[in-house]
Amino acid sequence: MSADNSRKASGSGDDGVRGGAGISRRRLIGSAGAAGATGLVLGAAGGATGYVATRPDEPAALTTVGSTRVMFHGKHQPGITTPLQARGHLVAFDLVPGAGRKEAIALMRRWSAAADHLMAGEPAGSGAADGPDHDTGIALDAGPSSLTVTFGFGRTFFERTGLTGRRPPGLDPLPPFSSDHIDAERSNGDLWVQIGADDALVAFHALRAVQKEAAPAARVRWQMNGFNRAPGATAQPMTARNLMGQVDGTNNPKPAESDFERRVFVPGGTEAKYDWLAGGSYAVVRRIRMLLDDWEKLPVARQEQVIGRRKKDGAPLSGGTETTAMDLDRAGSDGKLLIPDNAHARISSPGTNSGAAMLRRPFSYHDGISADGTPDAGLLFICWQADPLRGFVPVQRKLDRGDALSPFIRHEASGLFAVPGGAADGEYVGQRLLES
Ligand code: HEM
Repeated sequence: MSADNSRKASGSGDDGVRGGAGISRRRLIGSAGAAGATGLVLGAAGGATGYVATRPDEPAALTTVGSTRVMFHGKHQPGITTPLQARGHLVAFDLVPGAGRKEAIALMRRWSAAADHLMAGEPAGSGAADGPDHDTGIALDAGPSSLTVTFGFGRTFFERTGLTGRRPPGLDPLPPFSSDHIDAERSNGDLWVQIGADDALVAFHALRAVQKEAAPAARVRWQMNGFNRAPGATAQPMTARNLMGQVDGTNNPKPAESDFERRVFVPGGTEAKYDWLAGGSYAVVRRIRMLLDDWEKLPVARQEQVIGRRKKDGAPLSGGTETTAMDLDRAGSDGKLLIPDNAHARISSPGTNSGAAMLRRPFSYHDGISADGTPDAGLLFICWQADPLRGFVPVQRKLDRGDALSPFIRHEASGLFAVPGGAADGEYVGQRLLES
């Protein structure tokens, strides 16, 4: 599957994504993506504007959007290489005072069971806080809708569970950056859950289940809510745009590239005490406010110089189309570099950072208007890498010193989490850490 922020109407199965599979109890009636592409009647196809009446004893019919299922069990956790979803919730939890390893084991068991059910389009149903009879019903009729639930452990989790000896060096605190405006209360946390789905109700249903199953072991520390373009809104899969209007995600590492696994996932065969993280990854989460009132005053040509790419189609200013490689040495007739020295895409590119690379998989957010009258909006920046010291840290250090984008953004919250590999059948996420 693509990890370049583009999306497909249905999955092909090579990334644990199944279009329509396993939804035998619902009737699949068409693809919203295809309907969008061909101009078929979306309402009649159960898409954006209407629904199909079914007999009272028949479950609701589903489009491809509703029926697409991502598998919970696998080598890697879902929600890393899964195409960007339309809705996202990021939630950090702290274990309650007195809770330790035993409670953490029970919690990860409950959460994993719930995620498995929810991702199949079923009630959370693990029993403790939310049995099938007590399901909220919020997601009824919508199918799995590409739901993914991903779990991570923060640095403090290891102290709380008596496992500091197995805490990998990759969880050492991120260094401070000069442009940081970090709110500690909205940062880090013992546990982190990322929820993504192509339907807002399905995402909220999973959020409620995860929150309820957290009791009595853990309490919410912070929560952030985000969004991306809806599936099927464009006729062809396209790279997403962020709230500055830029095409964002073009130069992400691609799963087909030979060094993709090495860059994104932690390899096996390292020291035995860190083996539990094999097949896992590190997520760096930054809530980055966009100073949109200032940004939107810039003429488009200036905005393009700030990034080094054309706004309309994401093509590099050195020429070509969106997918043409940037030519960082190319100058215009005036002798000036076409992609300026301080352009964001130049400064962050692996070629100028000794190969440092990460998979960026963000959600946009909008939390209304701040006290000063400006929009509280921006990017829930999430990047995935095998080692933060060879991904986020060196790149952010460089951006911090001279990125032309800096005057228009503000990093307001930060998190670093170790995300274990996927749970095998019969296993829960983190079992190899918590029970060996
Ligand atoms: C609100 C903040 C940000 C915005 C609006 C933004 C926007 C963009 C855009 C439009 C591109 C060019 C298209 C692409 O290849 O995706 C890009 C590239 C990139 N950005 Fe950002 N970015 C932000 C923050 C960051 C941060 C914090 C980092 C990492 C520390 C980062 C790392 C990168 C990387 C690695 C690339 C690809 C460079 C390449 O290989 O060509 N960005 N960003």
